[in-house]
Amino acid sequence: MSETMRAWQATAYGPTKDALSLATIPRPVPGPGELRLRVQAASLNPIDYKLVHGALRRVQPLSFPVSIGFDASGIVDAVGAGVTAFRVGDPVFVRASRDTLGAFAEYSVQPERFVAHRPANIDAIGAASLPLVALTTVQGLVDRAQVHAGERILIHAGSGGLGSFAIQYAKALGMIVETTTSSRNAEWVQALGADRVICYDRDDLRARGAIYDVVFDTLGGAHTLEAFELLKSGGAVVSVAGPPDREMAARFAGSFVVKLAMRWMARKVYAAANRKQARYFRYLTESSGAQLAHIAAMVELGTVHPVVDRVFDFEQGLAAFDYLEAGRAKGKVVLKMRG
Ligand SMILES: NC(=O)c1ccc[n+]([C@@H]2O[C@H](COP(=O)([O-])OP(=O)(O)OC[C@H]3O[C@@H](n4cnc5c(N)ncnc54)[C@H](OP(=O)(O)O)[C@@H]3O)[C@@H](O)[C@H]2O)c1
Repeated sequence: MSETMRAWQATAYGPTKDALSLATIPRPVPGPGELRLRVQAASLNPIDYKLVHGALRRVQPLSFPVSIGFDASGIVDAVGAGVTAFRVGDPVFVRASRDTLGAFAEYSVQPERFVAHRPANIDAIGAASLPLVALTTVQGLVDRAQVHAGERILIHAGSGGLGSFAIQYAKALGMIVETTTSSRNAEWVQALGADRVICYDRDDLRARGAIYDVVFDTLGGAHTLEAFELLKSGGAVVSVAGPPDREMAARFAGSFVVKLAMRWMARKVYAAANRKQARYFRYLTESSGAQLAHIAAMVELGTVHPVVDRVFDFEQGLAAFDYLEAGRAKGKVVLKMRG
């Protein structure tokens, strides 16, 4: 009889409290180029509940039942043929891909190329909190916007899981960092290194004028268009919540009709970008062990660190989602395994 494990699985689209349950399923076996980690901790990201709600079904449809979760840290407990950089017993962390979901489980099999050695100076909980937000930041600010030291960036929602990492990373790059949050979070967000905190319940962001080289739009909605008003001519809006950019539409739209719909959604954003001679990027994060290794080195140097808000036991997955979905998290929400 094959060995089993427990995993959080979605059985249908819907609210997480109805759609998710802790299932007992076969323990996966690593194939060539893959390794299996015994998961010690896993962190939640908004994309986890957006997938379960069905909000992303046009770009990433799920077939049920499906194991969920992108971010995990743990100990390598089996390796497939051809794995060279990792050995059984290594502490690692990983961001799964859309095809290898399943971090919220006792074991997870991932391609070696998605995995990196865990920074030596942080625990499994801290390591699990980093992968998706760190990769999103690097892929947005460096790979796409190609930001430079001395540029001024506005990072929306600096108190969230993504923003609390992005502030630190942008400071490490030598940028001048301004961020938005509510006044109750202002002090600790400033302590992350932000040069200025703009409290959305007290301050007038527009009064800052068109002063930013880059806006990291983590909020979407009206904030995406507003970002262009805050941008210097020739600047860049890097969005993880706005309408798809042309590359994303070309890549993820399944049909010509969906592609047209995506272009229609983005028309006002591109008009605003043209007026400002600005660049607009909206992307989905990709897994990368090499980029995680770069982050691990920064963590070991002390330039960036994990920001963990709350830790829930693995079995309390639904309570953890309830907390994250309320939208008030201050940093990351993490599930931890016992033992
Ligand atoms: N590549 C991708 O597509 C990608 C990757 C990562 C994240 N994302 C998206 O990015 C968004 C943020 O992710 P996250 O992990 O940071 O979420 P999160 O941790 O749930 O964000 C919660 C934080 O947002 C702040 N916030 C809420 N409304 C705000 C507002 N109007 N102005 C400023 N701050 C506000 C809250 O602060 P207060 O309590 O003070 O309001 C809270 O601290 C999500 O929509 C997520 O799906 C996309």
